[in-house]
Amino acid sequence: MNVTTLSRRHFLRGSTATTAMLAVANPGLAEVKRPADPFIETLIGRMTLEEKVGQLSIFQDTARTGNLTLNPTPAMLASLDQVKRDIAAGAVSGYFNGLGVARARELQKVAVEQSKHKVPLLFAADVIHGLRTVFPIPLGEAASFDPELARRTARAAAVEATSQGLHWTFAPMVDVARDQRWGRVCEGSGEDTFLGATMAAARVKGFQGESLRNEDSLLACAKHFAAYGAVEGGMDYNQADISELALRQIHLPPFQSAFDAGALTTMASFNTILGVPSTGNRYLLTEILRHQMAFKGFVISDYNGDAELVEHGYAEDEADAALKAISAGCDMSLQSGLYRKHVPALVRAGKLKVAVLDEAVRRVLHVKKALGLFENPYRSLDERREKANIRQTVTLAREAGRKSCVMLKNDSALLPLPKTGKKIALIGPFGADKANCTGAWAGFGDIQTCVPLADGLRAVLGDNLVVVKGCAVEKPLEGGIDAAVAAAKAADVVILAVGESNAMSGEAASRTDISLPASQLQLAEAVAATGKPTVVVLKHGRAIALSGALKKADAILCAWFLGSEEGNALADLIFGDHAPQGRLPVSFPQLPGQEPYYYDHPSSGRPQTGKDASFKARYRDASFEALYPFGFGLTYAQLAYGDTSVSKPFISKSEKLLVSVSIKNTGTVAGHEVAQLYIRYKSASIVQPIRQLKGFQHVDINPGQTVNVRFEISAADLAFVHADFESVADPGKFEVWIAPSAAAGSAATFEMSAR
Ligand code: BGC
Repeated sequence: MNVTTLSRRHFLRGSTATTAMLAVANPGLAEVKRPADPFIETLIGRMTLEEKVGQLSIFQDTARTGNLTLNPTPAMLASLDQVKRDIAAGAVSGYFNGLGVARARELQKVAVEQSKHKVPLLFAADVIHGLRTVFPIPLGEAASFDPELARRTARAAAVEATSQGLHWTFAPMVDVARDQRWGRVCEGSGEDTFLGATMAAARVKGFQGESLRNEDSLLACAKHFAAYGAVEGGMDYNQADISELALRQIHLPPFQSAFDAGALTTMASFNTILGVPSTGNRYLLTEILRHQMAFKGFVISDYNGDAELVEHGYAEDEADAALKAISAGCDMSLQSGLYRKHVPALVRAGKLKVAVLDEAVRRVLHVKKALGLFENPYRSLDERREKANIRQTVTLAREAGRKSCVMLKNDSALLPLPKTGKKIALIGPFGADKANCTGAWAGFGDIQTCVPLADGLRAVLGDNLVVVKGCAVEKPLEGGIDAAVAAAKAADVVILAVGESNAMSGEAASRTDISLPASQLQLAEAVAATGKPTVVVLKHGRAIALSGALKKADAILCAWFLGSEEGNALADLIFGDHAPQGRLPVSFPQLPGQEPYYYDHPSSGRPQTGKDASFKARYRDASFEALYPFGFGLTYAQLAYGDTSVSKPFISKSEKLLVSVSIKNTGTVAGHEVAQLYIRYKSASIVQPIRQLKGFQHVDINPGQTVNVRFEISAADLAFVHADFESVADPGKFEVWIAPSAAAGSAATFEMSAR
């Protein structure tokens, strides 16, 4: 027998999150003060109040092409002349969501030649998962469980963005999202804190590269601080009514991970936490963020977030809102113009100390300096790079697409399909659709060059492919079902491309029902009635509640929104040139009404563990289990896990425990496995989740080969936030699994002593 031993060291593959950081605690630390910088202090000393607030104000980039035109406001519609006058007056710190080097140079020239203090502009944009070349949505990419892939795609996005006249991205989005009704699940890494923290660090490193001063380094902004993913009922912008313990244990660690990886900006979230809007929450933005998390950069509001304090009923008018936001620690105002309008008067009236304003300006200037902008204001504004670096990353987009796809089902080994000899009907609203390859956040994506599924399949099948739409995304098409049924009958295999459109997830796109629209369900039923073997290719920005023919289909591939190379990436998997290897970063519920649903919930006193369902924690119409659990995903190989074992039954608090499992490839094709380490407290002073992810390893296993996978566990991995917000491990008994998902595997047990 061929046995290989692999350790966590070898296979964490760039994972930089350590569980030691996975709880935000340590109250009472002082803010990390940086040494005074004479250059910056002199600059601040010379600025008027108006020039200072100029450094704290950023606006939609109306002067450059490629700008998104969501909700144009009067400020957005300012003329180019006005923009230049503002820059010359030192009344603006930067612009966001525009592209183009020539115009950016023109504006920067005004800043450094005509404004009194020559402070360079910052050009920002929402570069969330690629610029022109679009990579899988972040949720999809999280399904790769591959932080190194996330680093590489973020790096590629940064190279492209910095060559198109950008310095700063409003990414990564690191909100932990446990309610699939929330539309913005698609922008982050899903429901798990450990996976989220791991991906957060990788993306920051990718965006920022080796040094922030480099021409191709894109300043990262971890957003949205904080607990935006915990909005009640999954409705966007709603309140987050969560305990501070949950805030620290679940929602803050990915931010800490992003800051530790070097992110120098963060964005205040729209929501309230326990009644206080983040933008005006001094405890959150100063006590926790700066004093306890040691954040060294600056905070930007979300779009009009400071002005919204009025609508929240937290500030009586705009001036009060500006006062509350800046006093709380929100350094820069995004789009509202409120700071510009009110802060000088607030200082003059003695309502705001000039020291508070100066500190915010200092933070912004430090970041501009860290980017090297004072030495080279034209960094990342190079017309040669602009021409050379556009869309260089198509191969990476295809690789990322493949690795992000999750195979949920493959009955009778329907997949992979043969490349020849079969007639295939591609049915559904997304088959030939380029526009919905990208997902919600790809405002700059080059839609024309996107490869839809039909093109990817046709490249292999040629004439053996028939493409029929069948229905529109949310409504029937006249004669659509008849055409689809006829095509299915004439084919050997059906590929059903159904799901959500770009617009059905993302900001302000929460849904009460996370099933597919009725028109698509009807199409699926009609096609299923033909009895033809069917592969469902699902497009989605969240977990979907599958039912009927979709659930019963022979094979199901979760394709999220895979980006520019979607069709080619899927064809690579469908025809077996590569095998699926993605794992669910969000649990798929049985029914929409199970939301919020996440795997790492605490146990009730009446869990339904066996068949007996009476008086158990479950629904009348659904058990507590997921339809497909977190971490789940099939591949083409047959892999068998042995029992989890531990190196010893007892450890002291300072000892390390070795946990191992053997995985055997019992089939005939090579396999790629994502082995996952989970733990559970048998008893803890605060009830802990039934399982928690603590690590994962990627392992390649050849046919017939058995591989031993090992993880090391120490007290730091077992720590959780206690009532006093200290993060420590309780002594006691534990269960531990190395498993292919959050709902599989055999547990081993161990005990940790108090010292
Ligand atoms: C979103 C942010 C985004 C900002 C700027 C807001 O509506 O919540 O995520 O970065 O707009 O485009």
